[in-house]
Amino acid sequence: MKLIFIGPPGSGKGTQAKRLAVRHEIPHISTGDMLREAIADGTELGRQAAPIMAQGALVSDDLMVGIIRDRMAKSDAVKGFILDGFPRTVVQAEKLDGIVGNGSDPLRVLQLLVPDEAIVKRISLRRTCAGCGAIYHLENNPPAVDSLCDRCGAEVIARPDDNETAVRTRLEAFHRQTLPVATFYKAKNVLREVDGIGPVDEVFERIEKSLV
Ligand code: AP5
Repeated sequence: MKLIFIGPPGSGKGTQAKRLAVRHEIPHISTGDMLREAIADGTELGRQAAPIMAQGALVSDDLMVGIIRDRMAKSDAVKGFILDGFPRTVVQAEKLDGIVGNGSDPLRVLQLLVPDEAIVKRISLRRTCAGCGAIYHLENNPPAVDSLCDRCGAEVIARPDDNETAVRTRLEAFHRQTLPVATFYKAKNVLREVDGIGPVDEVFERIEKSLV
């Protein structure tokens, strides 16, 4: 399965992609996670991406396409993948076709529908493990022990781009730059829309049904 997740910030792409990756035994490739790792490792990529991400704007297409081209060349992506956070512009979508579009499995694209009002509530209460990237929500899915990850015990923190100003910019970038990507895939008849509102398990079942 070659699956792309499209959805606004905080719509549950990471939460659902992690589960699907386990169930289907394919890698979850999150460009946001890759950039955050680069920042944590202090690489040149991280140095360039950090101020852009902190604002909530998009990193350049050239940088992102390069990252995905390298990642797709790894052997674990041959049998399938779940792309979370890429493509985010029509230019990225066109380039992705050139990178993975020729295999026997067609690309499938899933758009999670969540209105902006719900996004703000989700993101303001999100916490992420600084160690393994596990995603929590202080109301719906809090860690068992305050501020510590259930899985690896590392600190659970708010992401630096989860402040109100950056979230507004991320939402604006989604509407202006990423929604046209959904239109691009709709025209190719590979887009499925899934309602992202409701308990995480229910959304997961809706996603599985849409993939049958
Ligand atoms: P990225 O990391 O991709 O962030 P994002 O798209 O803004 O998405 P999020 O990670 O914020 O949310 P999500 O949809 O994964 O939701 P989650 O599952 O965590 O990108 C960050 C930045 O990197 C970008 O702004 C950009 O600068 C840069 N970047 C990355 N890729 C790029 C690209 N291709 N081109 C250019 N720049 C790029 O869920 C959110 C919260 O809601 C959690 O607390 C969760 O527990 C909770 N939740 C989940 N599901 C539910 C539910 N059903 N009900 C209630 N709560 C729920």
